Amino acid sequence: MLDAHSSNRTILEIEKLTRRFGGLIAVNQVSFRVNKGEIFGLIGPNGAGKTTLFNLITGLIPASSGKLIYQGQNITQNQPHQIAFKGIARTFQNIRLFGELSVLENIKIGRHLHIQTNLFTGILGFPSASRQERSNAEKAWELLKMVGLEQRAEVIANSLSYGEQRRLEIARALALEPQILLLDEPAAGMNPSEKSELSEFIREIRQKFNLTIILIEHHVPLVMGLCDRIAVLDFGQLIALGVPEEVRNNPAVIEAYLGNE
Ligand SMILES: Nc1ncnc2c1ncn2[C@@H]1O[C@H](COP(=O)(O)OP(=O)(O)O)[C@@H](O)[C@H]1O
Ligand SMILES: [Mg+2]
Repeated sequence: MLDAHSSNRTILEIEKLTRRFGGLIAVNQVSFRVNKGEIFGLIGPNGAGKTTLFNLITGLIPASSGKLIYQGQNITQNQPHQIAFKGIARTFQNIRLFGELSVLENIKIGRHLHIQTNLFTGILGFPSASRQERSNAEKAWELLKMVGLEQRAEVIANSLSYGEQRRLEIARALALEPQILLLDEPAAGMNPSEKSELSEFIREIRQKFNLTIILIEHHVPLVMGLCDRIAVLDFGQLIALGVPEEVRNNPAVIEAYLGNE
């Protein structure tokens, strides 16, 4: 039985999560739950601890204290590859692509981990390795089309525009076939039309891949228009959590963040 505070809608539970860097508490006793299928926004001033929270969720850095529960399982001590394996994928605030590899190769690398999960089936002979390879290529193409980069499949990633690189990074994360997708400032460096396309695109991939999305973003109209709920961090602490309307009108949020916009 689930306890009264839990719910079968919860996919990720963050419990009193804390991360110190020397004397600095970058993430301070943060607790919240993310529901399956929601687009969950994470906002707050620079240095508030948003990226650190993503680094904790993906196992890139260990927590100083607190817990991370994913689909009812404690993942607090898991390594990054274990967490990726279990279905949490991300993009980075500073884009990380294999710049000298082609667009298509970047996506195939993203799928590699997913394929490994199916290695056992491969050993047993079904599906055959060649069929798997074919389906890998097909899926990579599907993702390329999804992000509108099929014309650019053979060029090296470094030659893409900033907005295209961001879309490629999302496609690579999707290649893992994740349950949760963490996007760290995906609109950064995009022009206004790319930003509005991005909103539509995020809605589309949520629907198509049955995703839960956690989004760090500074562009307030995008966050307010897109997110089901929003959490606000300030100096490592959670200062507000609610639907966009509640957060927009919260005096502490206006003071810490929205006031400067
Ligand atoms: N690896 C690190 N070592 C030391 N300090 C860090 C490290 N990563 C982040 N910080 C500090 O933690 C705080 C939160 O940073 P960050 O999570 O990047 O904020 P945000 O993404 O909200 O802008 C900042 O003061 C930052 O300098
Ligand atoms: Mg950041």
